Amino acid sequence: MQKIIELRNVTAYRGDNCVFRNLSLEIASGQNTAILGPNGAGKTTLLKLLTRDIYPVDTEDGYIRLFGRERWNVWELRRHLGIVSHDLQREYAGHATGMNVILSGYYSSVDVWAHQQFGAAHKDRALRVMALLGVAALKDKLYATMSTGEQRRFLLGRALINEPDTLVLDEPTSGLDLKACFQYLDLVRGLMQTGKTLVLVTHHIHEIPPEITRVVLMKRGEIVADGEKSAVLTDDNLSELFDTPVELLQANGFYQALPGSR
Ligand SMILES: Nc1ncnc2c1ncn2[C@@H]1O[C@H](COP(=O)(O)OP(=O)(O)O)[C@@H](O)[C@H]1O
Ligand SMILES: [Mg+2]
Repeated sequence: MQKIIELRNVTAYRGDNCVFRNLSLEIASGQNTAILGPNGAGKTTLLKLLTRDIYPVDTEDGYIRLFGRERWNVWELRRHLGIVSHDLQREYAGHATGMNVILSGYYSSVDVWAHQQFGAAHKDRALRVMALLGVAALKDKLYATMSTGEQRRFLLGRALINEPDTLVLDEPTSGLDLKACFQYLDLVRGLMQTGKTLVLVTHHIHEIPPEITRVVLMKRGEIVADGEKSAVLTDDNLSELFDTPVELLQANGFYQALPGSR
């Protein structure tokens, strides 16, 4: 199986803070994975390492490989890896229309610019992606006036326009109401069922869909458990992870966390 993400002995700082010291993690193609951890665990830092917003400390034996390679130009990489982060959601506060949010994915830019050329084929593909996501009717709506759920779907579309095999999503359903959350989960499940690999980075247990089979628990920059979802998602593990008693409920392949009594 091809390895899509490989971190080997990665050390990374945010300011003076050493977030990761010799972190190693591998994810293979087809291995739908949730990386679960409390606030401050290092989830966002991990995403920023993947997107090259931050770089690891240069060490002799440390590296980050994506799809087997250490060096990528962003143009090539976005055809393999689609990332939807919360930074992106914030950066997009401006005047873009729905259509332009999707089109901007071609250039990995925020909004579209006069120098960027879009032909009929680009626009056709954008319309198809919007139809897939159920947002075609909103193509002329301003991003700033969309609901959070609509914005989230457009940002997913922005990633999907490049037809990546792998999607990395950062807390995709946070801030969504139940309907929007369920619609989003349905979409993501459909994408996994059609063969895309999903890497979900989150502290929300309820947004881990049944198709996710591997769970990695991360705390203070360290991986504290990693394996089959059913083995990793236990009351004890999650109580330890979140430093509070947790009792898990399970139904239809989904999990929910309740306050436990320990
Ligand atoms: N810009 C920054 N400067 C210094 N420390 C930071 C910065 N951003 C995050 N950190 C620290 O890095 C650690 C990991 O943060 P982060 O990756 O945002 O965790 P998570 O996304 O899991 O909540 C935390 O201890 C946090 O305080
Ligand atoms: Mg975070």
